[in-house]
Amino acid sequence: MKIDFHSHILPGIDDGSKDIDESVQLLDIMAADGVDIVVATPHFYCTRRSIHRFLERRNKAYESLKPHLKPEHPKILLGAEVLYDDILIGKDALSRLTIEGTNFMLLEMPYTRLTEKHFEGVEKIVEELDVKVLVAHIERYLNFTSYKSLTDILDLEVLGQINAESLMHWKSRSNCFKLIKNGYVQVMGTDMHRVSRGDATLGQGIEVVEKKFGGQTVSDFERNGKMILSDRSFEEIIG
Ligand SMILES: [Fe+2]
Repeated sequence: MKIDFHSHILPGIDDGSKDIDESVQLLDIMAADGVDIVVATPHFYCTRRSIHRFLERRNKAYESLKPHLKPEHPKILLGAEVLYDDILIGKDALSRLTIEGTNFMLLEMPYTRLTEKHFEGVEKIVEELDVKVLVAHIERYLNFTSYKSLTDILDLEVLGQINAESLMHWKSRSNCFKLIKNGYVQVMGTDMHRVSRGDATLGQGIEVVEKKFGGQTVSDFERNGKMILSDRSFEEIIG
């Protein structure tokens, strides 16, 4: 089963798909790639919008798309890509931003050097709030911060996602490989935004992982994905 954990396919809500037409095109690409489930994760910035208002807009975007969905399209689960901010820590309502049917929230870290402050913030979210954390495209932060500062955070009770597109370029690919090898990656996503961007499909990413690590790693990702969607505990998934 192919599950895409990170996408911007909902129309007109963020820097992803600009309208219904483009959303359908992105879903056509995913259908041709054999994706079964896609999690729609529009950007949530807590400094720009309340959770309530964000959810209203997200659900409206989804409703507008619904009549245009085709039977071959992947099933859409609603979620959000929540940008880390210190003020998130006090927000009990964070659990409303989790992936539909689960308590897992896709958390995007800031594109800066990750410090003790970020470590403590993520630790608080994990320990004190009613959400489980899946960190978005963990390989990307290595452009801004050290491997040690990133993996300090990933050593908390969090899961990690990588982007298929990052497996297409040598530098980001070697970062992905290192993170996979060291057990920090549980699932993949496309982070698809625009048709014109030509982001790699999940299938293309899977192919690279399979070539490097073998079919077992791909099966593990699949198993992890299913476990996330059945809202299993961190311990059960990490095994
Ligand atoms: Fe994203």
